[in-house]
Amino acid sequence: MPGNSEARPVLRLGVLASGNGSNFQALAEAIEAGRIPNAEIAVLIYNNPDALVRQRAGRFNVPIRLLNHRDYENREALDRDLVRELKAAQVSWVVMAGWMRRVTDVLISAFPDRILNIHPSLLPSFPGIRAIEQALDYGVKVSGCTVHIVRLVVDSGPILRQAAVPVLEDDTPATLAQRIQLQEHRLLVEAVTLVASGRVQIGEQRAQLSLDSP
Ligand code: GRF
Repeated sequence: MPGNSEARPVLRLGVLASGNGSNFQALAEAIEAGRIPNAEIAVLIYNNPDALVRQRAGRFNVPIRLLNHRDYENREALDRDLVRELKAAQVSWVVMAGWMRRVTDVLISAFPDRILNIHPSLLPSFPGIRAIEQALDYGVKVSGCTVHIVRLVVDSGPILRQAAVPVLEDDTPATLAQRIQLQEHRLLVEAVTLVASGRVQIGEQRAQLSLDSP
């Protein structure tokens, strides 16, 4: 039946994470709880051997691969192996959930407009590293987080979801990061749910939602 998520093919996700892994966990818990019924994590790939995400992943029935970026001579070489692992796991969408490596065209062209990233600012404000510190230094009164499609320019692609988080007078990077992360966990699950619904249409600069399920 059109619009019935049961009838839709399962969305096989490859999740990339570098450190803490709380976004990975939020996604894995949502899937485990049946909140995204037609998605599954086909593989988690991490790049730091001592990353906490490795321990978090142990709780879930998810295949795990370590690709240590220090073993590669350049970014393209790492991305070639990433593509190999993702294809081997028959992944159709990639989720960069705190993947702290700049990706190259090797990965992007293997999954064109099929890579999500989560970033802790209201893009296009404060792209790049230390986004929360950048926002505090600038003195913004509202910050937040963004889930977007990955393009070659860092943190630049079409935006799927955003959430605003008010900045408090006495916020430090740590306190603001904590409140932004709560929103990230919700937002990432929402974004993957939209992708799994098949309603996301991605144009050159903008992502839109079709009103009806295909
Ligand atoms: C998040 O703040 C995300 O926006 C950024 O990296 C952080 C990852 O956090 N890209 P975690 O590892 O998922 O806890």
